[in-house]
Amino acid sequence: MKVAIVGGTGDFGLALAVRLVDAGDEVVIGSRDAARAEEKAREVGAAGGAANEQAVRNVDLVVLATVADAALATATALVNALGNTPVLSVASELQFGRDGARPGSDQRSLAERTQELVAGPVAAGLHSLAAGKLAHGRPDEDVFVCGDDADAKALALELAAKVVDGRALDAGPLAGARALEGMTAVIVNLNKGYKGHAGVRVTGLP
Ligand SMILES: NC(=O)c1ccc[n+]([C@@H]2O[C@H](COP(=O)([O-])OP(=O)(O)OC[C@H]3O[C@@H](n4cnc5c(N)ncnc54)[C@H](OP(=O)(O)O)[C@@H]3O)[C@@H](O)[C@H]2O)c1
Repeated sequence: MKVAIVGGTGDFGLALAVRLVDAGDEVVIGSRDAARAEEKAREVGAAGGAANEQAVRNVDLVVLATVADAALATATALVNALGNTPVLSVASELQFGRDGARPGSDQRSLAERTQELVAGPVAAGLHSLAAGKLAHGRPDEDVFVCGDDADAKALALELAAKVVDGRALDAGPLAGARALEGMTAVIVNLNKGYKGHAGVRVTGLP
């Protein structure tokens, strides 16, 4: 699979790139700064690095992995370059208070709002996967992927299955991203409260 990772210079995007390169995928690192993308691509043995707008051209799947605050603006800026290419949204909007993290205040997920901007189908997933663990191997965890377009979701599930030791699980339509993004706040609070590195394992499935 040929995958572009927008914001692939960051903690999550770069860790994902390492796992996908390990799995034999052709990965293009995207950044606002082409030189930084090229440098990071060399570091992890990716096929290439380029400015986000170039990186997303002629790939099978684009992972939108900028900081969550920049996800919608970045999707808007890339509309033409993306064309009909499927997008995987991994972002979770969080609000931080003295008592912990909360899901973002918008009723709709970032993934649903991204879908309103771009022409291609958007899937969402991998929210529960910590960059710190992903950077060091395939975490022994399950991951969720949701989406309304069967082909885009299948691509995202295929990608997800390569980067974890657990299962890549089809979690239903894109509206499920509201729960998946919200769960990030829960995981952040668990990590803080229990001083750990929480991940998800689903029981009871065949
Ligand atoms: N960290 C995790 O454990 C984790 C787990 C699951 C999902 N996620 C999701 O993955 C995404 C990335 O998280 P992260 O921890 O990797 O973030 P990060 O390292 O702080 O940033 C990722 C990249 O975003 C780009 N960026 C920063 N500001 C930007 C802007 N204003 N416009 C466009 N691009 C900008 C930067 O790339 P350039 O400067 O090179 O352009 C940066 O390297 C988030 O949406 C997060 O919710 C994170």
